[in-house]
Amino acid sequence: MGTQVATHMASIVLFGPPGAGKGTQAALIMAETGLPQVSTGDMLRAALAEGSALGIEAKKYMDAGLLVPDSVIIGLIEVRVEQDDASGGVLFDGFPRTIAQAEALSLIEDVDAVISIEVPDERIVDRICGRYSCGDCGAVYHETFNPSAEQGICDACSSMKLKRRADDNEETVRSRLEAYHSQTAPLAQWYDERGKLIIVDGDKDIAEVGNDILAGMAGFRD
Ligand code: AP5
Repeated sequence: MGTQVATHMASIVLFGPPGAGKGTQAALIMAETGLPQVSTGDMLRAALAEGSALGIEAKKYMDAGLLVPDSVIIGLIEVRVEQDDASGGVLFDGFPRTIAQAEALSLIEDVDAVISIEVPDERIVDRICGRYSCGDCGAVYHETFNPSAEQGICDACSSMKLKRRADDNEETVRSRLEAYHSQTAPLAQWYDERGKLIIVDGDKDIAEVGNDILAGMAGFRD
């Protein structure tokens, strides 16, 4: 592995628009830091798959490309960070997404760094509409930019349960982008004012973005 990253990290936030590559780069950061990934999107999809009331309620927002209410999300996170594997910090993916969520997080967890992956809107639709992922291990692929080596089979775990997300269509992506710009993007300045923001150009190939993230994290900790 290239750049050495300090081992005494508390929690890290992966931040950026839908399709920026947060989930893709989370795998690299987890391998580098040992932090467990906490993706609010994955947690909501798991709740829906279980048929819980929370999952069914969240689906209405997710299908429309809207943010799920802060109270629901903050409640999920408060429970998650109490679990044993979170005691040394976590890698938040897709949380926080509003100033209210960030304020709530600041009361329950130390955030060391917020990695903002910047990608222009015009790239996002192609990325989202070509995405598929493994239903067993969660590995993320793209039909053009990052296909699995063998069609229909996950490289990471050999599962044949490759699937697409219900909200990965052009209409919903445009709503998700609107929500991002109006409710989430202002958080970058909020974290910058607190000295925690690392900006990475996400409009490069996956390996280059990963290298830039690790370099940014190493420089940040010096
Ligand atoms: P969530 O699941 O968090 O979705 P998202 O933020 O919209 O982000 P994505 O998972 O779509 O994208 P990503 O950045 O992880 O990109 P990926 O690595 O997969 O949220 C879904 C919904 O849940 C929300 O709309 C909302 O309703 C709700 N929700 C979740 N959290 C919430 C919160 N905190 N508050 C309120 N509501 C919440 O990459 C995308 C594709 O691009 C892949 O195919 C990948 O292979 C490809 N790719 C990645 N990097 C590159 C690259 N550098 N070059 C080319 N292709 C690339």
